Amino acid sequence: MTDLDTAQEAGAPHVSVLLDEVVAALASGPGDVVVDGTFGAGGYTRAILATGASVIAFDRDPSVARFAAPISASFGATDGRFRLIQDRFSQITAYLEDASVDGVTLDLGVSSMQLDEAERGFSFMRDGPLDMRMGADGPTAADLVNELDQVELARILYVYGEEHASRRIASFIVKRRAERPFTRTLDLAAVIERALGGRKGAKVHPATRSFQGLRIAVNAELEELEAGLVAAERVLKPGGRLAVVTFHSLEDRIVKNFLAERAGRTPGGSRHAPPIEAGAPPSFQLISSKAIAPGEVELAVNPRARSSKLRAAVRTTAPVWSAA
Ligand SMILES: C[S@@+](CC[C@H](N)C(=O)[O-])C[C@H]1O[C@@H](n2cnc3c(N)ncnc32)[C@H](O)[C@@H]1O
Repeated sequence: MTDLDTAQEAGAPHVSVLLDEVVAALASGPGDVVVDGTFGAGGYTRAILATGASVIAFDRDPSVARFAAPISASFGATDGRFRLIQDRFSQITAYLEDASVDGVTLDLGVSSMQLDEAERGFSFMRDGPLDMRMGADGPTAADLVNELDQVELARILYVYGEEHASRRIASFIVKRRAERPFTRTLDLAAVIERALGGRKGAKVHPATRSFQGLRIAVNAELEELEAGLVAAERVLKPGGRLAVVTFHSLEDRIVKNFLAERAGRTPGGSRHAPPIEAGAPPSFQLISSKAIAPGEVELAVNPRARSSKLRAAVRTTAPVWSAA
């Protein structure tokens, strides 16, 4: 039985994106230790284990444990090369020593399982509770749309959803919730569609951008990414490799700027990593200055790979930049 068979048996429709490119960028081998910060259905983890390396995987979603069980059975139990930690990747440093691993990979966003299961509340195509949490704690999307003030709601839709009609949508939401709070995904999607005046032959569903904005806010995804990159800088050994796959421009900009700063290409600083004195030695060296995109073959079999981009870099011997 192949890995794919095992994953499908366990109900994992997730097809790993840019898998060969990530494995090549990590360049791991026997004796190496690699952190897979976004375990999902374990596609990256299995490919890394196949190189002979050990994997310490993280995922904030407790439901992925079902995909870890077969991997533990084949690798973990026999030679202890695999373990899954249910936590956010921003917390890596709580589990691992500084300069202790040879690779870190992050494959951002939601998995196909999360998107496709109506009960998780990520989909504007399937009716489900308005949840959108990848993990099991924190406020839900329903909490946000029912409780945030109109200005903050519009800001979330505009900044995280890149939705230009954010103020109009927020005003429709606030009016409607005064009569009846939102509890279901399709109900919210219909109100957003009305705010935008219907579909008008649009290629994407009118709720696409708003749902993306809410999902990013519910899961604090951009804050997680910034903190995860800083954590990776700490735990990577000199010569260790970082490989990050993003799915939209907001994520890609964060990774691109972080690596450009740390590689000495631009002056830096962010909320999690204040700039340090001029002339600090680069803590990363870029593997390629351009992002790597999926090829035509991958796009033909997995349309969900469409907007993905890989950025990768090697940790230098310089100290970490961040005080965190
Ligand atoms: C795109 S999937 C990863 C798929 C995986 N690479 C594979 O090949 O099967 C993203 C996964 O990362 C998890 N995730 C997203 N943000 C996270 C975070 N900040 N910390 C830990 N896990 C996170 C999600 O719960 C989801 O399971």
